[in-house]
Amino acid sequence: MPDLGLGPGRILHHKDDARANKKCVLKTIFAQISVQMTDNDFVPVPYTHQAMAGKIGWEAPSNIALVKYWGKKANQIPANPSISFTLSASTTTTLVTYRKLEQFGEEFDFDFLFEGTAKEEFKPKIKTFFSRIERFLPFLKQYHFTIESSNSFPHSSGIASSASSMAALALCLVALEKRLNPAMSPEFLTKKASFLARLGSGSACRSVQGDLVQWGAHTGTVGSSDLYGIKYPYAVHPIFGNYQDTILLVDRGPKQVSSTLGHDLMHGHPFSQQRFDQAQQNLTKLRPVFEEGDLDAFVEIVESEALTLHAMMMTSLPYFVLIKPNTLEIINKIWAFRQKSKTHLCFTLDAGANVHLLYPEGEKGEVLQFIKNELVAYCENGQYICDKIGYGPKKM
Ligand code: DP6
Repeated sequence: MPDLGLGPGRILHHKDDARANKKCVLKTIFAQISVQMTDNDFVPVPYTHQAMAGKIGWEAPSNIALVKYWGKKANQIPANPSISFTLSASTTTTLVTYRKLEQFGEEFDFDFLFEGTAKEEFKPKIKTFFSRIERFLPFLKQYHFTIESSNSFPHSSGIASSASSMAALALCLVALEKRLNPAMSPEFLTKKASFLARLGSGSACRSVQGDLVQWGAHTGTVGSSDLYGIKYPYAVHPIFGNYQDTILLVDRGPKQVSSTLGHDLMHGHPFSQQRFDQAQQNLTKLRPVFEEGDLDAFVEIVESEALTLHAMMMTSLPYFVLIKPNTLEIINKIWAFRQKSKTHLCFTLDAGANVHLLYPEGEKGEVLQFIKNELVAYCENGQYICDKIGYGPKKM
């Protein structure tokens, strides 16, 4: 049910009240329908300005999903809604230098440098991204671009950089479009950056703003869309305000199975429909949890989501396992520590062996001590990253 703004248990006494209320409900429904955007809303109107040459830079954060996106339909439409904390320290910085071509052809014309070195092997991914978004940014073939990118987190740390890198690139391209059409509103720019980032990598659409972002149509969330992420629109208890995420680097090697392949294996998966329904339900359950700051319920939903994600991998055909023995050792240690310490430390996983430890700021001292004493031993070269909830990308 969409949220119609009717309080629970509200009693109507008069016919007039009932009529007025019905009118109000209808108005709300129509307002909600009219704000549902489609692909066509992102095709630009003719540009009013020129941009011959210049530079644009953005730093975009990574994010960590609480309810996981796993499974998608054509055109990067998610099979279920997801929600994530935007991070703060794990970021990608991208600088785009553009020059308008005197003659432009059929190909995209760009160079790509990662951490100062030309990387030919990354170009096909960007080319695919450009061809997916050309309809929405029709100027792409009219420019030569030099794209320079770098990450704040260590190289090959096993942390997926696709969310932060696609978000940073999308933000740069939308900023260029803003120079061609200065009338674009800041709200629309954010929406379009998310829409485009999604076409690069699904989870990237949750990285163009902070701090709690939902992506995917969910019946209980006004304004939610399969096309872009939205800032979570309901009340969030201050306990989540400075939530910590310490990322334990368990395995820094490349993943054996890409997320894209993993998503694909949800087609014809024996448990896919139950899983997609469960994600919807978990989002519904999270609403009072966020509002009331119910950390016990939060821990249960978040850990269940992480384990379900990996259960989906283990029950695909072909099946695969991304967690490592040390991932399990860490999970068992967390459960024992939580029981003993009465803290609210919990874990989540993305599509790999690394473990994200989530906890409120007030428990930081105790948890960091526990990490140093008991968990560092399970990290590759003893490495971990201290991150926390973040408030969105930064223009450079
Ligand atoms: C497990 O966004 O990397 O991290 O859309 O194919 O690029 P593509 O997939 P991607 O998948 C992320 C999956 C996840 C869960 C999540 O972030 O919600």
